[in-house]
Amino acid sequence: MTTVEYAEAEEFIRLCAAEGALPGLRVDDRLAQIKEEIAETGSYRHTQAELAYGARVAWRNSARCIGRLYWRSLRVRDCRHVRDAAGIAGECVTHLREATRQGRIRPTLTVFAPDGPAAPGPRIRNDQLIRYAGYRLEDGSVLGDPQYAGFTDTVRGLGWRAPERRGSFDVLPLLIEAEPGSPRLFSLPADAVLEVPLTHPDHRWFDGLGLRWHAVPAISNMPLEIGGVRYPAAPFNGWYMATEIGARNLADVGRYNLLPVIAGLMGLKTDDDRTMWRDRALVELTLAVQHSFDTAGVTVADHHSESRRFLTHVAREERAGRSCPADWSWVVPPLSGAQTAVFHRYYDEPDPAARPAFLPPG
Ligand code: ARG
Repeated sequence: MTTVEYAEAEEFIRLCAAEGALPGLRVDDRLAQIKEEIAETGSYRHTQAELAYGARVAWRNSARCIGRLYWRSLRVRDCRHVRDAAGIAGECVTHLREATRQGRIRPTLTVFAPDGPAAPGPRIRNDQLIRYAGYRLEDGSVLGDPQYAGFTDTVRGLGWRAPERRGSFDVLPLLIEAEPGSPRLFSLPADAVLEVPLTHPDHRWFDGLGLRWHAVPAISNMPLEIGGVRYPAAPFNGWYMATEIGARNLADVGRYNLLPVIAGLMGLKTDDDRTMWRDRALVELTLAVQHSFDTAGVTVADHHSESRRFLTHVAREERAGRSCPADWSWVVPPLSGAQTAVFHRYYDEPDPAARPAFLPPG
């Protein structure tokens, strides 16, 4: 199926060497070994150190991520030997537990088997390990997260039983395809899913809305490509920035669309754009997220500090002789953009061919 190009392997090994990433690496020996292994098997096996460094550089190359200052700290769990669906689900649960640590969130990546010459690697069909169901209701509206209405239909079609009392924040099951055409469902145990109930530092009425969000964003549908080898299941997480939840997930019109509710409770006139009710509600909702995560002791970034740290990262990369491509429209926060330093400049254009990389879901 997929045969590895030696040239891509070579480019990766030379990058590791140039960056002094693999102590004791003898480049020519390693390259000769890889060449032979590819000739014999159509692929080659990364050492644990190569795998870990490749994953870190894939993060460093993620042009949409504002949090890349921490790329060296990524913890990599090698689960290439785990091949059955139940085993993969189990390791996803362990990943969540080890990444969550009661709220002291640690950037973590778990890598499963690569696509090989004989057979494709496993796939995780969820776009994140933790997401909330969206139930289509009779009147055309959605209970829960509308972004996942389609995925919710899919897992229900495969036999997932929604909770007796359906709610706005029902955690979806994992959908794992260890072999093509054999999808299997696994529920996440409650203790592997840390959630934060949302309260507002000043407004008591906010607490009664029953809002919550999960602590760990763990992207699970982006293949990781290192040195010509593609790992289709390589879930990874960092920690949240409050705006992702307060100014997007809970606020976007196509998601929880909560601004009309919040503005209403704030006593704002929501029939006139010029009262800026959306803008005022957006701040209070994001503040509630920040406050709630902080109070619960769950790691969360704020957009002002993270913007400064990102520019520190860009400067460091330049000092290391590298460019730091970034996607302006993703890196600039969805709230108070121009109040953050990342707004006021342009960045090097991302190169879709850069490797190692997390690839678009496919
Ligand atoms: N924006 C996505 C979400 O709300 C998460 C993307 C990754 N974010 C992160 N902080 N690592 O779920």
